Amino acid sequence: MSARYEEFQARLGANAAAIEATLSTMLSPQIRHDEIARPESLLAAMRHGALNGGKRLRPFLVIETAALFAGADRKAALRIGAALECVHCYSLVHDDLPAMDDDTVRRGQPTVHVAFDEATAILAGDSLLTLAFDIVAAPETPLADGIKTQIVLALARAAGVGGMAGGQALDLAAETKAPDEAGIVTLQAMKTGALLRFACEAGAILAGAEAGDRATLRRYGERIGLAYQIADDLLDLTADAEVMGKATGKDARRGKATLVSRRGQDWARTRLDELAAEAEALLSPFGARAGILVEAAHFIANRRN
Ligand code: IPE
Ligand code: IPE
Ligand code: MG
Ligand code: MG
Ligand code: MG
Repeated sequence: MSARYEEFQARLGANAAAIEATLSTMLSPQIRHDEIARPESLLAAMRHGALNGGKRLRPFLVIETAALFAGADRKAALRIGAALECVHCYSLVHDDLPAMDDDTVRRGQPTVHVAFDEATAILAGDSLLTLAFDIVAAPETPLADGIKTQIVLALARAAGVGGMAGGQALDLAAETKAPDEAGIVTLQAMKTGALLRFACEAGAILAGAEAGDRATLRRYGERIGLAYQIADDLLDLTADAEVMGKATGKDARRGKATLVSRRGQDWARTRLDELAAEAEALLSPFGARAGILVEAAHFIANRRN
């Protein structure tokens, strides 16, 4: 294992622990200003959906892209990372519902609707999504109001009808009418790519980076976003459920339209290498400072879980 890979794993782990702690505080029973009460079972379901491990890759990308810029505030990056993780966890809680992918295991534990019930899982998802915007706007997030507004807008666009939720709708529609390859690329860029692209762009936004650097990180995020879902689809076909912490072989069972099912595993591995190389090349203007993000791109292309 290279020293750079070890450093990447150490930083991923350290950032994940910081995110876990931040989320745990936000999901404590303590009510916040203007809240009326926090129902115990709903809060428990939110904690189940958000504090159950996970690689925390999206917050890692927020924190590490922000760290490219001298002016970035680490606490702000941590909070924006936690907000994004809330959106991601909500997307997983809803993705697993019987009306969607109908899965019973997530991150090695029963999915939220299995551990609680369907209505509670729907509401836990709603509440995690809403909490994300609470975290961004809250006075404890040390960012200027203009920057917060830009983050809110970018996160809303990434999560909504033109981003993740829209992509999930296309993904479900594709179970009955298979799209062409361009259609699969679009749906994957939306359902998975949009939040990953936001993760990379958010670092630049919160650091007040210039437009050129922001655009570069956005393009880097697009490449790793595409790679992320190709890797997920490949792992669904090849990996152990135990290692993944979720069922595998489920895409074929549900007739999901994926690039891996269309083009095969060898094509997917080559495409993953290409996307990682493109992502790496995009980072060259940042020089050695971006070493950890180069490593992240290769991790995403070669991940095992
Ligand atoms: C799973 O996301 C869903 C996809 C978008 C492919 P992750 O693989 O990031 O899951 P966690 O957060 O580490 O559990
Ligand atoms: C998930 O894609 C994308 C989301 C927006 C949650 P998948 O449905 O392939 O994710 P897994 O395999 O259930 O984690
Ligand atoms: Mg799905
Ligand atoms: Mg799923
Ligand atoms: Mg999958």
